[in-house]
Amino acid sequence: IPVEDFDLVIFGGTGDLATRKILPGLYRRMLSGQMPKTSRIIGAARSEYDADAFREHVHQGLKDHVDQSLLKKRDVDAFLGQLDYLQLDIFTDDGWKALGEMLRGDVIRAFYFSVAPSLFGEIARRLVQFKLADQDARIVVEKPFGRNLETAKALNAELAECFDEKQVYRIDHYLGKETVQNLMAIRFGNALFEPLWNAQHVDHVQITASESLGVGGRGAYYDKSGAMRDMVQNHLMQLLCLTAMEPPSKFEANAVRDEKLKIIKALSPVAPNEVVRGQYSATEDKGSYIQDSENPESDTECFVAMKVEIANWRWAGTPFYLRTGKRLRNRLTEIAVVFKDPPHSIFDDTGTHLRGNALIIRLQPDEGITMRMTIKDPGPGGMRLREVPLDMTFAEALEGEDIDLPDAYERLIMDVIRGNQTLFMRGDEVEAAWNWIDPIINQWVEKGSKPIQYDSGGSGPDDALMLMHRDGRRWREIKQ
Ligand code: BG6
Repeated sequence: IPVEDFDLVIFGGTGDLATRKILPGLYRRMLSGQMPKTSRIIGAARSEYDADAFREHVHQGLKDHVDQSLLKKRDVDAFLGQLDYLQLDIFTDDGWKALGEMLRGDVIRAFYFSVAPSLFGEIARRLVQFKLADQDARIVVEKPFGRNLETAKALNAELAECFDEKQVYRIDHYLGKETVQNLMAIRFGNALFEPLWNAQHVDHVQITASESLGVGGRGAYYDKSGAMRDMVQNHLMQLLCLTAMEPPSKFEANAVRDEKLKIIKALSPVAPNEVVRGQYSATEDKGSYIQDSENPESDTECFVAMKVEIANWRWAGTPFYLRTGKRLRNRLTEIAVVFKDPPHSIFDDTGTHLRGNALIIRLQPDEGITMRMTIKDPGPGGMRLREVPLDMTFAEALEGEDIDLPDAYERLIMDVIRGNQTLFMRGDEVEAAWNWIDPIINQWVEKGSKPIQYDSGGSGPDDALMLMHRDGRRWREIKQ
């Protein structure tokens, strides 16, 4: 079903994000029939392009980032025909007037700020000054949304001067991932799990976002950020919230966001010995983090492991362990809910130690769900037990069905047009997240903490293993 007709303006329309994600995503939505044929996408940027040069640029982006089999000439031409371009210097009036003339009056207007956050305020004010954004217009902003509480508050305030919160869509692309929504379907669409989803039955939760790539290519940006700001403050905290939150009364934006906010506010402060920071070292053919960041003095972490406590009735005593890092063994993102061991074993004579079940929700690769179960080892050897995975990849379970799986960005952009904020972060949520993260980073700065070196292609520093071992637990292997 197509969304309503729209004009989408992408500020920073020739930039990396637009070229790699936003425009290829829109192309795929067009192919699936979701984008009305009359809708228009206007790239606005400083580059001296005209509409044709922009189309050429986007065409190249499609070739680089969309599966070749999807690039039929007729489709590509149709998509390029929906594009327009405006060379815009946001500090002068002329461009804004020109933009006003390009926009249609009777369709949804969405403005995607795919630019540095330092420009958000100026663009927002200009949109209002030139009356380009009415009450129904949508504003889309990207991370990094601030680098601490103070800067996030300032950004929120700048946007709030011009727009209502219900118009602001703060993207965290993890919320657009298929399995993240499936987490909610599993929790709240099945009565099986919710009674067990608490400290009485869950021993601990592990959330891993492991990447095999390093930071090469974007080292300069990354070095000012680090894994805590780049991954934990947003993506990992969102996963934690969705795993830990109370059932919202409805699957509706504010109901969900209220529950997530309660979790963030219930997070206990993190003691310094409960966080491990790391940097990857060089291999024979690849550089170290220090080389990739081109900063020989860098104290920035590209790995974080931490133990998080949620101080509320549901979770008191059940830790959440988070870990993320670059240049690790594999690319793998998963949430593992590890249940307590059975309270008593009737199989002691068999010499098997019964371990708790685990529910593993895999975001990538091979989205799916696995339940770790204990069964009898088949065969005549008596009552021997073993663990097996009860595995379901969505691809296999739904094999043969014609599934349209939009990637995170495409799904989120369509939600913007539909006016559905459920999968976007509210301003108070972002601020609360920084409020919890800031003291952790400040401690590092005050103490002059240095990240620990770890081997590329491994699973992070040994100290991260110790973080679990000393609690009598261990990380799951980072394997695909
Ligand atoms: C981005 C981070 O937000 O998420 C990157 O800035 C990271 O550093 C990326 O690589 C990971 O996203 P995904 O979808 O590949 O897991």
